[in-house]
Amino acid sequence: MCSIIGYYGKENASPILVKGLKRMEYRGYDSVGVATESENEIKLKKGIGKVNEVNSKVQLDTLPGKIGIGHTRWATHGRVTELNAHPHPSNSGKIAIVHNGIIENFEELKKELETDGYDFKSETDSEVIVNLLQKNYEITKDVKKTILKTVSEIKGHYAFVAMFENGQLAAARFHEPLIIGVGQDDFFLSSDVLGFIEFTDNAIYLENGNFVIIDKDKFQVLDFDGNNPGYGITKVSKEFGDAYKGDYAHFTLKEIYEQNETILKAGEKAIDAIEKAAENIKDAQNIYVTGSGTSYNSALIAKQILSKYVKIKAEPIMSSELQFSPETIEENSIFIAISQSGESADVLDAVRIAKKANCRIIAIVNLLTSSLAREADIVIGMNCGPEIGVAATKSFTSQLVILYKIVQKISNNEITIDFKEFSKSISKTLDNPTKIQQIAKELKDISDIYILGRGINYPIAKEAALKLKELTYIHAEGIPGGELKHGPLALMDSNVYVIIINPSDSTYSDTLTSAREIKARGAKIIGISDIESNIYDYWIEIPKINEVLYPISEIVPIQLLSYYAALEKETDPDYPRNLAKSVTVK
Ligand code: AGP
Repeated sequence: MCSIIGYYGKENASPILVKGLKRMEYRGYDSVGVATESENEIKLKKGIGKVNEVNSKVQLDTLPGKIGIGHTRWATHGRVTELNAHPHPSNSGKIAIVHNGIIENFEELKKELETDGYDFKSETDSEVIVNLLQKNYEITKDVKKTILKTVSEIKGHYAFVAMFENGQLAAARFHEPLIIGVGQDDFFLSSDVLGFIEFTDNAIYLENGNFVIIDKDKFQVLDFDGNNPGYGITKVSKEFGDAYKGDYAHFTLKEIYEQNETILKAGEKAIDAIEKAAENIKDAQNIYVTGSGTSYNSALIAKQILSKYVKIKAEPIMSSELQFSPETIEENSIFIAISQSGESADVLDAVRIAKKANCRIIAIVNLLTSSLAREADIVIGMNCGPEIGVAATKSFTSQLVILYKIVQKISNNEITIDFKEFSKSISKTLDNPTKIQQIAKELKDISDIYILGRGINYPIAKEAALKLKELTYIHAEGIPGGELKHGPLALMDSNVYVIIINPSDSTYSDTLTSAREIKARGAKIIGISDIESNIYDYWIEIPKINEVLYPISEIVPIQLLSYYAALEKETDPDYPRNLAKSVTVK
């Protein structure tokens, strides 16, 4: 998603804004820009590319002034061009805006503004907001009245920061994140605490439908009716500012390597919440588990382990699909929402549908200050620290550990899992990447890869395909083993690589048979298993362990394989093209 940032204080704004944007770059990174106010004039620079690239080209951080706004973009309306990059100035040049989200009625507003004589330089919906602000400011001559009028006219999901030529900043939030950082002598506005954590850990999470005006070293929070809604200051965990690569070449690699520790920390600070969740699930008539992307793959595993180990039926729901069948949600059910960011628009919409049906919401989330955490009745923190790489890695394995812990609780601890021993086995996989690196070289020039798994290993095949797609841009597809002969076998030939996920659980011999059938068609087989076989052209060994833990053991080497294949293909593993870390628009 796009990141927005604003600064109002005593320091030069532009270097602070560039630093903040750099830290939030994982959210969106196709173009970047900064605008500052100096001597009652707005100055602006922007360009296509990552923050460092654009900064070294146009020196964003040399713009003068102590007040400013900035943006990194993830294109939604309009192509990736310099004109479409933010900030956008109004026609008079007296107001500039940075915006995250989508304005649904931008076409009709644009037509009205064009009739009024406004012209548009970009293809964005954001330029409509800034010209509407100008129009309303010329009528009202007052920033507060201007914002109230503007938010009553725009429809959609948005967060924006507007900078006025007189040095006032105003920022509004409607279903997109916006946080105020309150420093000693300065204020920050940001999509993410990472934008200002280096300067202050005092944060105000602006409520939905609220806006803030910062002027003359003071700020005022108001709701969209102009009333004072009040606000609270939260001390943000400094840990979330601790987003450095250290000695690792990429955040993704660092995050993969952290997993021997993060699986021990998962849910560690949420023992009561896990217990409460277990009680609620035990007593529920209906249970739904939702998420998007990787988090949806966790939901698929939740279904499997709840039925296998505690005989509880749960229905996994892809968050983006629920809007088309909201009636499937039974009243007073348990609704488990899984999300690393807690800001995915699809997940939040699914939660809203569940709330309408009076469901109790259990959130499994990494960011405890996120919108999802605030919407939920029970919040279980993944506790895995910031995940910057766009591809979810450690958050996935933390989600699985939390699900295991819930199942353990439901079983009255009849299921025993030695997480400490397990963590050692993960370290062993991580400490021996040489074979995986060699296999990654083989993947450099291929165009298709399939991943096959049965039962609980099928969601891992799907997750593996997602990782390979995101990181290497190779076409990758997860196949449920039993479906092979019902279609996918037609795709198998000597140009194809197939990863066979084959731990020694109840799926083992059927999956080995599938591997044989695929090999007979000339495809190369990469076996992920605790048992060696001559069917595999390459064998990636996983430890023989408690079978409930196989999914984690399987995905870690595939994350590594995807990462090293990305290096071979010279793609950027941290910032896959066209993607963003948290998808806060639909
Ligand atoms: C995973 O590698 C992806 N980047 C993506 O599918 C992600 O899992 C999805 O967008 C959901 O994000 P969330 O967990 O923050 O809700």
